[in-house]
Amino acid sequence: MNKYRKDFPMLDKDYIYFNNASTSLTPTVVIDSMVDYYTNFGVNINRGVDSLGYKVTEKYELVRSKVAAFIGCAKGEVIFTRGTTDSLNLVAQSFGNLVINDCDEIVVSVVEHHANFIPWQELCNKVGASLVVVPVSDDGIVKPDDLLKVMNNKTRIVALNHVSNVMGGINNIRELAKIVHQFNAYFVVDGAQGIVQEKINVHDLDVDFYAFSGHKMYGPMGVGVLFGKQELLKKMPPIVFGGEMIDTVSIEKTTYKEAPYKFEAGTMMIPEVLGLGVAIDYINNIGIEKINNYVTELRSYLVSKLLEEINDIEIYNKNIVDSNLVTFNIKNIHAHDVASLLDKEKIIVRAGHHCAEPYMTALNVVATVRVSLAFYNTFEECDKLVEVLKKAGDYIDVLF
Ligand SMILES: Cc1ncc(COP(=O)(O)O)c(C=O)c1O
Repeated sequence: MNKYRKDFPMLDKDYIYFNNASTSLTPTVVIDSMVDYYTNFGVNINRGVDSLGYKVTEKYELVRSKVAAFIGCAKGEVIFTRGTTDSLNLVAQSFGNLVINDCDEIVVSVVEHHANFIPWQELCNKVGASLVVVPVSDDGIVKPDDLLKVMNNKTRIVALNHVSNVMGGINNIRELAKIVHQFNAYFVVDGAQGIVQEKINVHDLDVDFYAFSGHKMYGPMGVGVLFGKQELLKKMPPIVFGGEMIDTVSIEKTTYKEAPYKFEAGTMMIPEVLGLGVAIDYINNIGIEKINNYVTELRSYLVSKLLEEINDIEIYNKNIVDSNLVTFNIKNIHAHDVASLLDKEKIIVRAGHHCAEPYMTALNVVATVRVSLAFYNTFEECDKLVEVLKKAGDYIDVLF
């Protein structure tokens, strides 16, 4: 996969970048597409009748079709948002408000990213509903049996990740969806990490909502997607008002466009949407399966090497096979110190609670180090990481 490294200008800069689950690097083709917009178009969509605006509107809508093809849904089921967080807040505030009453229950797992935890917690606090937390396996996976145990006829929404950003295991979304629907509840899936992990078809998976971000799939920051089933989007009210989301406005009353347009208020992030379309082409050209076969092999190499060569390392997700994450601590060394040591050698990892504090509490740790791999990472980079980590003990000795 090394041949793709030249596509990423950041890889020229002498860093080893192992924080891809936080945000992936951006290939030149995506950057160029945004420069092209500002250089050759630069106008708004859906406004006025100028031919330039018309062309950009067409390009923007073409990306909606591209996203729909990428995740297996209808064009009208794709809403552009600012990212996963924005998408999940939209579901909670619009759909959640519509269907949740004070005697209802919302199920989340203990390993959710805060973006798929707090919106539901807030909704429960607002309407007096109950937040039910389903436990996960040692690998951070929601087992269908465990979900079954917390479901009952009060459960209205189940909100789970496709892939945990701490542990990296893949939830069996299709199996979980069957259970959710057996109880006539709705299934919201946080796909921020999952979208690059597996080729998905949201209708085959039978999820009601699926959220993801452009910047974790080699696309731009500031753009994301919410998929929602058409019949549900139809019932949902907009939560942000203004711009081209209206149908008619009078002093007495305003009516709104159909979904997805009623959810896209104000001036949208046009260059980022266009960049997302190019990122999808880029991924499709390589192939998600090819990407993940390589990343799985790389990770397996790294996990074995870490276990062999680093004393006192605890890898929390060592039993997971199909993943791009290695989450660990080294005994008696704070995760932030490990990350600082790596940073001195220009190796970028993530250390902290990974926006998943309830799960850190469940693991009984304050922080972990997370190495997240992408297809442009190499075996040599993994070797370098291990070499530097071998010095972790000495470094801490110098500090104290
Ligand atoms: C599982 C998961 N959900 C949600 C998010 C939030 O994504 P964004 O910051 O792009 O909205 C992240 C980001 O790290 C994530 O990993």
